[in-house]
Amino acid sequence: MRKKIVAGNWKMNLKFEEALQLAIDLNGWIADNQPEAEVIIAPSSIYLPTLLENVDEQFLKISAQDLSAHEKGAYTGDISAEQLDSIGLDFSLIGHSERRTYQHEDAEVLEQKMKQAFAHQIYPIFCFGENLEQRENNTHFEVVESQLLDVLAKQDKELLNKLILAYEPVWAIGTGKTASPEQAQEMHVYVREVLDKNFGAEIANSTPILYGGSVNAENAENLFSQNDIDGGLVGSASLQLDQFTQIIMAAQ
Ligand code: PGA
Repeated sequence: MRKKIVAGNWKMNLKFEEALQLAIDLNGWIADNQPEAEVIIAPSSIYLPTLLENVDEQFLKISAQDLSAHEKGAYTGDISAEQLDSIGLDFSLIGHSERRTYQHEDAEVLEQKMKQAFAHQIYPIFCFGENLEQRENNTHFEVVESQLLDVLAKQDKELLNKLILAYEPVWAIGTGKTASPEQAQEMHVYVREVLDKNFGAEIANSTPILYGGSVNAENAENLFSQNDIDGGLVGSASLQLDQFTQIIMAAQ
């Protein structure tokens, strides 16, 4: 049985006091309600140390939204995996579609980012997914396969048991347009086939695959009840405690 995971991607939202309060409230809610799912939040990097100090990681885990492709040195503005590890951080998103689009992150950069994460004991939450044109052209399966293999095939196979995947069709992110549970399930099954073929049955069966893209309190249960959907990566609905906690409860 794979553990369910619900992760909140806060993106570039919330001022410091708001972020701190939301993290403290969420931590308290998890302590009181003991949901089955593991809960992770990814706030802006400047809040990471304070949030790590103010939540209990047995209830609420903290993730970065990104990390550098480089080990260290003259990369102004970047934050390395080693630096994240040095503040006690255990997770990072890698390859979110907004970074692929706005920061032009390609497979080569993402391969390096994932190597950095693995080298410094950070669990990568690797995001991938097709855009609208690719879905309409019916190329979404091959697009997803190459997004996965371009990065994963270059990693040390021994470390792939630390991988968390997030299928996020670009056309569903921030649009209010969710993939149907059947569409998401179909892709998750396909991803497991790709993992199986390339890395073996154990990795295919044990890797958590989250769905992301307009997950909310209304649609979460239907999505998470699909066999191969192991939880969600949630953007805007993770900024509201009542919405996010309902989504967490939907992951049983
Ligand atoms: P959304 O974002 O839930 O606001 O669509 C999801 C994501 O980008 O991870």
